[in-house]
Amino acid sequence: MTEEQLLNKYPSLARVERREAGSFRQVKSFVLRGQKLKDYQIRAVEEHLDDYAVFYRNGLISSQEIFGNSNPMVIEIGFGMGEATVQIAKDNPGINYLAIEVFLYGFTKVLSRIDQEGLKNLKIMRFDATEVLEDMIADNSVRGFHIFFPDPWPKKRHHNRRLIQTPFAQLLASKLEKGGYIYCVTDWREYAEEMLEVLSGCGLKNPYNGFAPAIEWRPSTGFERKGLEAQREILEVYTVKE
Ligand SMILES: C[S@@+](CC[C@H](N)C(=O)[O-])C[C@H]1O[C@@H](n2cnc3c(N)ncnc32)[C@H](O)[C@@H]1O
Repeated sequence: MTEEQLLNKYPSLARVERREAGSFRQVKSFVLRGQKLKDYQIRAVEEHLDDYAVFYRNGLISSQEIFGNSNPMVIEIGFGMGEATVQIAKDNPGINYLAIEVFLYGFTKVLSRIDQEGLKNLKIMRFDATEVLEDMIADNSVRGFHIFFPDPWPKKRHHNRRLIQTPFAQLLASKLEKGGYIYCVTDWREYAEEMLEVLSGCGLKNPYNGFAPAIEWRPSTGFERKGLEAQREILEVYTVKE
């Protein structure tokens, strides 16, 4: 089955943003990349989509509704192939993880991994994270956000596509509970400096003097390996809502 056939069969997976086809599209932090799905990924959708995926709706969700318990919820944005996502969920069974990614290849891979690992505390969404936060997540309700290696959009004319800019950072901050954190990692120094400035400007506290030391529980990711291969330094930005 091709990606197109799969999306026709599962329309709830096809739409990644609120807008209707043909209507004006705001500047987005992502472009949709296609990559041929393997048989196991298609099977994961056919067998487990409803078990492990959460679908967009214009209405708030809660840990209780999605996970069946009231454990704290951490949201990851842009999980890519999900290596870190799955490992962190395995390591922390007492925390609920809602992980959001529009890239279908990564989404279906993680769908299959959740089943393989029998994870009860990880659910995934294929939708624009900004719209998910705006419409589905209550204020002051999130324990933490993980944003690992967001696209750096290096060309100046594309900087307006960067995820971490003031309006989005304010949205993140408004969703955090008191004591909650935002943990970003990037291999792009100039973006890392911008993150520090933008997040501090939203009233979040940086407990470190500048960048955070490498946090030992974070597993590596594909984009981290690419950065290291290109000899870029890895910079961590960790801020807290007081
Ligand atoms: C550079 S990749 C990093 C992936 C992974 N975190 C890693 O470290 O390997 C950034 C990912 O963020 C996703 N992304 C960007 N903006 C997004 C948004 N608004 N909602 C959901 N996913 C988004 C992209 O599709 C892309 O896969």
